[in-house]
Amino acid sequence: MSCCHYYAYAEGCEHVFAVDPTAIRFGPGVIRELGAEAAALGMKRVALFTDKGVVGIPLFAAARASLAAAGIDVVIYDDVRVEPTDASFKDAARFATEGKFDGYVSVGGGSVIDTAKAANLYATYPADFLAYVNAPIGEARPVPGPLKPHIACPTTSGTGSECTAMAIFDLLERHVKTGIAAKPLKPSLALIDPDATTTLPPTVVAASGFDVLSHALESYTARPYTMRTAPGDPRTRPIYQGANPWSDIGCAEALRRTGQYLVRAVDDATDVEARHGMMFAATLAGIAFGNSGVHLPHGMAYSVAGLIRDYRPDHYPGDEAICPHGISVIIDAPSVFRFTAPTSPERHIDAAAMLGADTRGATPGDAGEVLAGRLIDMMRATRMPNGIADLGYGESDLPALSKGAYAQQRILQNSPVPVTEDDLQTIYRGATRYW
Ligand SMILES: [Fe+2]
Repeated sequence: MSCCHYYAYAEGCEHVFAVDPTAIRFGPGVIRELGAEAAALGMKRVALFTDKGVVGIPLFAAARASLAAAGIDVVIYDDVRVEPTDASFKDAARFATEGKFDGYVSVGGGSVIDTAKAANLYATYPADFLAYVNAPIGEARPVPGPLKPHIACPTTSGTGSECTAMAIFDLLERHVKTGIAAKPLKPSLALIDPDATTTLPPTVVAASGFDVLSHALESYTARPYTMRTAPGDPRTRPIYQGANPWSDIGCAEALRRTGQYLVRAVDDATDVEARHGMMFAATLAGIAFGNSGVHLPHGMAYSVAGLIRDYRPDHYPGDEAICPHGISVIIDAPSVFRFTAPTSPERHIDAAAMLGADTRGATPGDAGEVLAGRLIDMMRATRMPNGIADLGYGESDLPALSKGAYAQQRILQNSPVPVTEDDLQTIYRGATRYW
């Protein structure tokens, strides 16, 4: 399949892609504009979401000072859990309900931004917790209307949550990651200050950077929007539409910047060009995947993170076993792209080239190896775990991992090729060790 046929239209299939961009302010020092922006959105009494790791950094102090200078009443919630759960979302929703806020500000990583989205949702439109959660785990009930304004201020160059309409959490009793996806969850404004990344430790930069990389790569290789059945009612067009010409733009530039800057940003905290470059890559990838959606690496990451037993990465708080989101995603990615390469070899080779691989002379049959090889080189250069075996998983875990991933049907539908539970086991087996 060549690129010129990638978006071929077919009878009964989608002919339209939608663009609903997030408002963004990007640049060093932009956090000092927070108060003015909050006031412009009509905020007078704000819930300021953060976590215990972020509450002491200069960027948080600057955010707070800017809100105070604008005369805005602020109540801080710093109990956000890294990798949130249904319990931590409910606690945040209780805080939001009792506080009677007219606006939300989140300063932190994806966990903080997602928690603020969920708190805003349940405080604005109270319901049973599973009402808005993605089906089949929850009811996927439509959100009745707009939420209170929310300004998201990311402090890591990773999740892109400031640009998406999604909030992700672990459902504890089911040992599975799932989420809430609804357009009203998208923040009203993203204030992206790349100075936030200068104090991040290397493991956090690596994990969040690979999340960026995979957002871009998955969006670029996702099932094309033209292969989806056209919606009878345009209002039911899904948020995550599949690869399309708009999301391709953000993906391509995010892949180039990630290839250029990720290893440098991990190795040297003083490399401002690289750390700022990764922050912009995260924004571009967030815009892209917030529009097209991710597929297998993210679908498979949910059970990798949810079933973790005793993996404890450096530089993450707490004593609990945890698999940071970006690690759980990239650990599956080389094996996934070996599997998906035959669906669009040119796209896989293009992506490898944008990440910095030498693709001269590569044939369509080489696509999977060329792309997987470049990902593995970058994982080794940033001291990532060597496959799911390094996270503690063996052959006996493959059925449970695959079952958990297969439950992520909403994401798997965005895969460029349909997958069975057996296929997922094969892909996990291929992700056991890479070098
Ligand atoms: Fe992600």
